Amino acid sequence: MEIIIQPTPGAATSIAARLIARLVREKPDAVLGLATGGTPLLLYRELMRMKLDWRRITTFNLDEYVGLKPEHPASYHSFMWENLFGKIGIVRRNVHIPDGLARDIPAFCERYEKKIRSAGGIDLQVLGIGTDGHIGFNEPASSLASRTRIKTLTPRTLRDNARYFGGGKKVPHHVITMGIGTILEARQCLLLAFGRKKAPAVARMIEGPVTAAHPASALQLHPRVKIFLDEEAASRLKRADYYRFIYAHKPDWQRI
Ligand code: PGA
Repeated sequence: MEIIIQPTPGAATSIAARLIARLVREKPDAVLGLATGGTPLLLYRELMRMKLDWRRITTFNLDEYVGLKPEHPASYHSFMWENLFGKIGIVRRNVHIPDGLARDIPAFCERYEKKIRSAGGIDLQVLGIGTDGHIGFNEPASSLASRTRIKTLTPRTLRDNARYFGGGKKVPHHVITMGIGTILEARQCLLLAFGRKKAPAVARMIEGPVTAAHPASALQLHPRVKIFLDEEAASRLKRADYYRFIYAHKPDWQRI
């Protein structure tokens, strides 16, 4: 794992954005895995500013709520079109987001996996992390070999996401999410985490054991992961100084 600690979310995000921009320029038909939530908002804003050519890019989103229409304001379809897709000239048929209204969810999930495979696999997967250690919506106890499927959210995630539903009890309990096995097949993963609230989950992901009890720890098994943190999210890491030292002394050819 490569851990990149920056003073602010903005500083960390602009390095992550440069990395994605480089991929989009070098491989104009790249396949990106994308995430939603508060964390990648800055990243998407920065990518929009970079005026990249998205016409041949294909995307697969990690997850969606079961039972929400795409036009529901809190759906991840709405999130993506509002915060990125609507503003970059992406081709609609190249965009894939799980269908929260699928009648036959297992069949839909199987098709989603097949589409990822026939697109050639994901070149770069953007990830956030939940306060309970989820990636995508793979909640604790998710199989580390799991594929795209339905999951039930933890009470903690329901609380964390209530803000998108005007508070209260309206957050759907079920979601469709890429599995941990699906995520681990991406050729490269890039995880962003900001703020003190994420610090305990970040520490367990990087310095704890690999365990389904903390799904993000599965990223330790991936050969190409970059973790972008601000100082607050890094505040519980025992070896933070070593990670800073590594980043400060990278050979030139490894610099982003
Ligand atoms: P957040 O969510 O970016 O809104 O904190 C992250 C996640 O749940 O993966």
